[in-house]
Amino acid sequence: MTQDRPTPKKYPPRRSQAWFGRDDRDGFIHRSWLKNQGYPHDELDGRPVIGICNTWSELTPCNGHFRELAEFVKRGVYEAGGFPLEFPVMSLGETQLRPTAMLFRNLASMDVEESIRGNPIDGVVLLMGCDKTTPSLLMGAASCDLPTIGLSGGAMLNGKFRGQDVGSGTGVWQMSEMVRAGEMSQEEFTEAESCMHRSRGHCMTMGTASTMASMVEALGVSLPENAAIPAADTRRNRLAQMTGRRIVEMVNQDLKLSQILTRQAFENAICANAAIGGSTNAVIHLIAMAGRMGVPLALDDWDRLGAEIPCLLDLQPSGKYLMEDFYYAGGLPAVLAEIKDFLHLDALTANGKTLGENIAKAPCYNRAVIRPRSEPLRDKAGIAVLRGNLAPHGAVIKPSAATPALMQHRGRAVVFETIEDFHARIDDESLDIDKDCVMVLKNCGPRGYPGMAEVGNMPLPPKILRQGITDMVRISDGRMSGTAYGTVVLHVSPEAAAGGVLAVVQNGDMIELDVAGRRIHLDVPESVLAERLRDWQPPAAPDRGYQHMYVKHVQQAHLGADLDFLVGGSGAAVPRESH
Ligand code: FES
Repeated sequence: MTQDRPTPKKYPPRRSQAWFGRDDRDGFIHRSWLKNQGYPHDELDGRPVIGICNTWSELTPCNGHFRELAEFVKRGVYEAGGFPLEFPVMSLGETQLRPTAMLFRNLASMDVEESIRGNPIDGVVLLMGCDKTTPSLLMGAASCDLPTIGLSGGAMLNGKFRGQDVGSGTGVWQMSEMVRAGEMSQEEFTEAESCMHRSRGHCMTMGTASTMASMVEALGVSLPENAAIPAADTRRNRLAQMTGRRIVEMVNQDLKLSQILTRQAFENAICANAAIGGSTNAVIHLIAMAGRMGVPLALDDWDRLGAEIPCLLDLQPSGKYLMEDFYYAGGLPAVLAEIKDFLHLDALTANGKTLGENIAKAPCYNRAVIRPRSEPLRDKAGIAVLRGNLAPHGAVIKPSAATPALMQHRGRAVVFETIEDFHARIDDESLDIDKDCVMVLKNCGPRGYPGMAEVGNMPLPPKILRQGITDMVRISDGRMSGTAYGTVVLHVSPEAAAGGVLAVVQNGDMIELDVAGRRIHLDVPESVLAERLRDWQPPAAPDRGYQHMYVKHVQQAHLGADLDFLVGGSGAAVPRESH
């Protein structure tokens, strides 16, 4: 057939032509097997081959609509003269995966990296949604550095329960406390399940997924408006189609990820995170992404760059509204326009324009949702980095989600050695605890859990809840869900399982928290701590499989919890053939 005859080459040399542009046996093999899907020969004639990296999975409900989204990307790729090829990668469902999706972020990033590098593609579209699917795809893509564009799946519509808006995660934490305090029945609690999550998309609070979608846009890796268009809004499909068109242009312009993910871009993202009241999880993910890109980014950059920035977005868990409201109010461009004096406006973005150009005419339609600078939701809301003998390498707290009265506090430690210990004792009415105590949870860090689970926002004891108390100081080496809130000190480094001082905190020790002074201190003489550490034994490490490798190689939280041998990149070249 005519379509099977080679056509004259009319495109510039491309990476994919190392597979498809050959007349030898290997060229035959690369083309012929692909043609079993019905592609005509001229699809492989040198036009940009676009990989669509898809995290669709029915076990990742937040990404359950991604096959449809991919079809819209393909439309755009074809329209722009490219050839789209969709491929699956490991998908991490935050609510389903045990022991925690974070354990597998680095594994998924390896899958992404090798899938991109090993395949005949010239550019890639990353389909990202649920919490860990965004950093894992960006980390993997960064280590290859092809032309890359991100597309988030969008948040769910606002949850609605008995006439009220209820937010993903945040509403669960609130209602489960109400059940424990005897203020809500089990029947009502169950009924709320299907009311909270009633459409496609990811969590619609400013949790980690929405935070990371906002980071994608603030970094310039996506087209404008990526952060906030709801998943169920057809404008999300339109964005997907435009993304497909744009990646073809990016390949033609040879616009690589490293030209977008610069130090300036990361600094912009840190500022954006403060202004939106974003998740503490962004700290770990952005440090890990920067590590893959070879961009120096440290924990202290978060404090230095974000400390003065006000939280302008009144979204749960810091505030009241939800992602749908955010989009209708103007989305991320409207927030960035408010803090433009903090941003590098000349940072290049995926649409070929600068960030400044993208936000120059960003309107705001609802000042209750996106506050003006003169009326912030919280002043100086960036993530605070704490240090002291309890966290010599740092710990973080999200001031916008904390109780102001607890930001300076001294209290008696009530220690839980593991999450199982916590669950076994927290509801015990005889637990020796009062509202001024500091709850300490150990062995939930990268090595200890393993995987650094989102357990840092420990529920309060029922006897405290019944007093009407809703917040206490809590400290751990774990993370907390971006949908959670409270005066919660997280990411303590070094973690307990790595022999940090956290490992030897004992019941009754006094702990001092001073957020303004950026201090977290265990008030125990150094000589006593040294003695306790001498007697400390590390927990047993997993002896096989991925967990064995992970625990051996995972870095501490302040370094992004990446595997030490994955930091940096290897580029996209693979000179050796497969046969
Ligand atoms: Fe997937 Fe929240 S569970 S985004």
